[in-house]
Amino acid sequence: MKGIIPAGITGTGSYLPEKVLSNFDLEKMVDTSDEWIRTRTGIRERRIAAEGEATSDLGAAAARRALEDAGVDPAEVELIICATVTPDMLFPATACLIQKKIGAGNAAAFDLSAGCSGFVYALAVGAGFINNGCYRKVLVVGAEVLSRITDWTDRSTCVLFGDGAGAVLLEPVPEGYGLLAVELGANGSYADLIYLPGGGSLHPCREETVRQGMHYIKMSGQGLFKIAVKVMEEASLKAIEKAGLKLEDVDFLIPHQANIRIIEAAAKRLNLDMERVYVNIDRYGNISAATIPVALDEAWRQGRLREGDNVVLVGFGAGMTWAAGVLRWSKKRREGEARC
Ligand code: ACO
Repeated sequence: MKGIIPAGITGTGSYLPEKVLSNFDLEKMVDTSDEWIRTRTGIRERRIAAEGEATSDLGAAAARRALEDAGVDPAEVELIICATVTPDMLFPATACLIQKKIGAGNAAAFDLSAGCSGFVYALAVGAGFINNGCYRKVLVVGAEVLSRITDWTDRSTCVLFGDGAGAVLLEPVPEGYGLLAVELGANGSYADLIYLPGGGSLHPCREETVRQGMHYIKMSGQGLFKIAVKVMEEASLKAIEKAGLKLEDVDFLIPHQANIRIIEAAAKRLNLDMERVYVNIDRYGNISAATIPVALDEAWRQGRLREGDNVVLVGFGAGMTWAAGVLRWSKKRREGEARC
């Protein structure tokens, strides 16, 4: 499209807390087994934030690494968007706390809530500010401390989630590169498939809500599973088409890491060999909005993304939401001035 400034990723970073919680550790906490967790989900271990470590701490660490990778000073950042379902507090936005922690005093900042699709949603929003010439340096962070909203006595959910953060810096990139297309979607009639009932305006925090465990994730695993595979395929295909590409043009897939069986089923439907799909669910479990930026950072640092590769990012999550984006990979920034 003429007049649109292409937005691409010029720096990536991630941060995973040190503490590892293995399936064997979980065997001692609930009635489960390493075998059940591995075969049903693909997860072997996950990371858990230290006492006092909050989402903004993880997000700030990932953001610093992304800026370092891009060679950009925090003071140059113009906007920070943090995708999260586990903000430090209901307000202020975790993005504001990250802004302070990394010293990005010139940046606007807000949070975005779209469950596990949050990072791709945030990428689309951030890219829009670059496309229209408003900003030239947008930091997009996906950060979660899911361990704090996990019921550690509920074996059907506590084996799935972990903590971590990933971040990218978006900047103008040469024509034909960067985020080529996105496909975002939502269906509120599936809102009860995964949700956290307590602590909001509907069920404010009370002794009663705490007693009923309403401050923990509620999930219908099977319901999500069936829809997830379908929406991952459909969203990816639509984004690929919008980018003017064909399935065979896709070089690499970075999917949300919720369950290895969902990833494999989606890859199969997209006719993609698993060698071209990034998987780290075995090490981190599901870290919601952080899964895709963490995977992207690891894939880049492992040399698995080459200049000019067509990379599809796709996720689904609470809402229910889904989101796919197609990137033509290049970390070369395009110089010039912002227009507004
Ligand atoms: N250990 C041992 N047994 C277990 C465990 C466990 N941790 N959890 C459940 N079980 C049992 C169940 O009680 C059930 O027993 P029963 O047959 O005696 O009733 C049996 O295992 C089968 O349970 P299912 O729920 O049918 O297992 P399923 O194969 O569907 O796997 C899972 C469950 C892993 C949750 C799967 O449905 C899934 O991954 N769904 C998608 C979840 C998801 O994507 N969540 C996140 C989406 S949004 C976001 O990313 C934040």
